Parts: sequence; C-alpha cells; structure tokens
Amino acid sequence: MAWFAVHGRDLPWRRTRDPYRILVAEIMLQQTQVDRVIAYYDAFLERFPTLEDLAAAPTSEVIRLWAGLGYNRRAVNLQRAATAIVNEHSGVFPRTVAELRALPGIGPYTAGAIACFAFEQDVAFIDTNMRRVLHRLFVGVDVPAPTAADRAILEIAAEVIPTGQGWTWNQALIEFGALHCTARKPACVICPVQACCATFPAIQTVLAGRPRSARADDIGPFTASNRYFRGRVVDALRQLPDNATEQGIDLHELGTKVRDDFSEQDLPWLYGVVQGLHRDGLALIAEDRPPYDAEGASSSGTVRVRLP
Ligand code: ADE
Repeated sequence: MAWFAVHGRDLPWRRTRDPYRILVAEIMLQQTQVDRVIAYYDAFLERFPTLEDLAAAPTSEVIRLWAGLGYNRRAVNLQRAATAIVNEHSGVFPRTVAELRALPGIGPYTAGAIACFAFEQDVAFIDTNMRRVLHRLFVGVDVPAPTAADRAILEIAAEVIPTGQGWTWNQALIEFGALHCTARKPACVICPVQACCATFPAIQTVLAGRPRSARADDIGPFTASNRYFRGRVVDALRQLPDNATEQGIDLHELGTKVRDDFSEQDLPWLYGVVQGLHRDGLALIAEDRPPYDAEGASSSGTVRVRLP
C-alpha cells in the first residue's frame, strides 16, 4: 500500500464510488489495457451517464459505442446487468457479492470488484494480475505454470486483506501486478517486498520468461479465427447506414463485407457465425424460413441480419 501511495495511477474510476461507473470500468478493463479504456470510459459515461440511461438505450447504440474495444459481448452483458438492476432491484444497485453475482454477465471478479471499489467492503477477488502477484509472493514461481489452483489463491487473497483497507489493498494489488510484478519483466531487483517474496530466491527462473503467450497457444485456430470473424460481422453491422439499420443486410452481401474471398459455399458457415452472434444478443436474424438444412444444402429462404 505504501508502494501504491507513491506509484498508483490517478485513474478516473479510482476517483468515484459510484457503483454504476465502477461497473462500466471493470467490464471495460476485463480484456482491454488501461490506456485504451480511459477514452472509451469517458465517452460511454457521457452518452449513458446513469444506469437508467444505459438500460433504456437501444442495444444497437451500446454496441456501436463499443466499436474498437473488442469482445463486443461485454457491451450486451453490461446493458443486461443495467436492465436487471432497474427492473429487478428498482434501480438500487445491489451491495452484496451474492446479489451482484446473480446479475447477468457479472462473474466473481466483477462482483468482488464492485463490492470493494464501490461499497468499500473487504472482499477478496482475483484477476490475472492479482493472481500472479499473490502466487509469486505466497506460493512461489509461477512459470511455466502456476502450481496453486485459483481457489487456493483466492483463500490467500481473503486472508491477507488488511481490515478496513480492502479498497486500497485491492487497487494496490492490481496496480502492482500491472506496473511492477509484471508477467514477463518483474522488477524484482528494486522490489519493496523482495524480503518476503516466495519467488525472489528463484528470480532467474522468472526472468527467463514465460512462453510468449501460453493462452494464445491454447486457443485453437478454429476458435481464434471464429472470434475474428464474429468481430468482422459486428463491425460490418455497425457500419450499415442509418436507413439500413432497421431492415438489416442480406447474408450474402454481409459475407462480401466480411471476407474478400467470400463465395456462395461460405453461406452456411457465415449463417453459423451469425447464429452464434444472435444467441449472444449481438445480432438479430430475420429469416422467412431456415435457409440451410443440416447438410448445408440451400433452400430458397432469405436471411437478413442487423444489430439488435
Ligand atoms: N484492471 C481491472 N480493474 C482495475 C482497476 N480498478 N484499476 C486499474 N486496472 C484495473
């Protein structure tokens, strides 16, 4: 915490205790770097200053504003959480981890972060950075892979929170992981907790570095490229001119916007991608009848796709 007092960044979501603003920040920060989030955070809150504004907005507009942040599903989930608070909690933000956890799209990390950063509760939660710091400090070397399970790390996280100082402690842990105890170049030589770190004696192992991205390697090419094309489809839908927003775009035309080499044979594949987006609330499909049977053979149905 002493380190944080000196090195912690002055970030907009650290100046507020408004749970709505903290929810927005934590969702944006889940897969995006702090520097990039700041501009989006301000623009988002300017357009949707309150929970009610967000809940009442057309989903298509929320998805549009998300352009460039990636992982579009977060935009839909964020709005679903806002709607649930307005409808099921009369607009009063729930305060307990259990109630927060029950909101759509809110996982254990986000529930803990809101309870702590908005309501200043001494609760434990971990993201990748926090997990790494705690693992290194209390368990030991985490490369090539952590030796302790998430559950064990979460227990440690709960044990070490200083009473009444959960807000500062957890912000400090996040910041220390982001700026000092980083994945590939931890600043062990100038580390303030060197003397009590379970990993410092093995510093060379850590500095030798983890494999470039263990996670990227785990994701198979299918998943990776499908994610890519999902993003391309949502981008294409966002770019439809206003007058086409309502009626949507024909599946074939959409295909030509999504890949240069698009051909008729890709229609069943594209239809599958679009169905996935439809399930996740990121696209709406209007069809007069299912255009493909299980073998991908075409009937003469038409499909139009638009933002929800
Ligand atoms: N990443 C996730 N939560 C954060 C926070 N509150 N501050 C900085 N980075 C974060």
